[in-house]
Amino acid sequence: MKITCSGLSYRYEGPAGGPAIDGVSFGVCQGEKIAVIGPAGSGKTTLIQLLDALILPERGDILYDGQSVKVLAKARALTGVRRRIGLLFQFPEHQFFHETAYDELTFSLRNFFDLGEGEIEARSRGIMGRFGMDADALKRVSPFVLSSGEKRKLALASALLSMPEVLILDEPTAGMDASGRRELVKIISGLSDTTVIIVTHNLEDFLPLITRCLVLSRARLVADLKREELPGSLDALRRAGIEPPLVLSVRKKLEEEGITLGEEAFEMEELLKEIRLGSNRDKSPIPGK
Ligand SMILES: Nc1ncnc2c1ncn2[C@@H]1O[C@H](COP(=O)(O)OP(=O)(O)O)[C@@H](O)[C@H]1O
Ligand SMILES: [Mg+2]
Repeated sequence: MKITCSGLSYRYEGPAGGPAIDGVSFGVCQGEKIAVIGPAGSGKTTLIQLLDALILPERGDILYDGQSVKVLAKARALTGVRRRIGLLFQFPEHQFFHETAYDELTFSLRNFFDLGEGEIEARSRGIMGRFGMDADALKRVSPFVLSSGEKRKLALASALLSMPEVLILDEPTAGMDASGRRELVKIISGLSDTTVIIVTHNLEDFLPLITRCLVLSRARLVADLKREELPGSLDALRRAGIEPPLVLSVRKKLEEEGITLGEEAFEMEELLKEIRLGSNRDKSPIPGK
């Protein structure tokens, strides 16, 4: 699904005043992997609620494959779009309310799609298998007894069961330990055809998988950068109130030294590998000399 936002603005009711999203424009093609970053209160959550059509823009519009969100809303036809978008709220485990983890997993699929029990079971087994969890065991436990990493995986699996074209995640690694974060990032990296939009304070976690980064500051989109442009945009990030991940500063320094780096070297391990390779190349005897 192609999504086009043009001049998007949104203001909450109440005396607070200023808009939470102000004149934001960008487009998203199917399969893109985008990080949305910005300081607390910059409008990230509001933006993804607009993208999921949970709230409607006050000004501007969102087109889903050319269809206006405003027109769809008037015609009471938003369900079709929402079904194609999976949304994972911040701390999704706080919204668990089913008796078994399996019911929690399959709830939205059961409610929003007309599928037989066999299909629901097959999809559940498939996805939980990929996540290293046993779908049948989930029928016997409460979702609340799962570990925090398992709870987050259950919520993500639940969003993926309906095979959304677009997956939107609000701070998916918040409150998780390093190994849980790595596992989640690995799962998200495997969603090659799905559009993934990730709101995050941990940009470094997602650098290996994103293609692009949107930067919000005080309700405005202040930068829309390809991943390879990030090392050259550290000052822009700082101006927006974001301390850039160390790996970007290191990459920038190496680029300034004239060292050519592989496109994939956006995590420290990969950078170190490339530096080692480079220094070995320097040491190796040059034939004929
Ligand atoms: N339900 C709400 N009612 C009134 N103001 C809100 C509400 N939700 C968010 N805001 C305000 O809108 C602005 C953007 O908030 P939000 O989108 O949650 O930012 P972020 O996710 O980047 O922290 C903030 O100033 C916030 O206080
Ligand atoms: Mg938020």
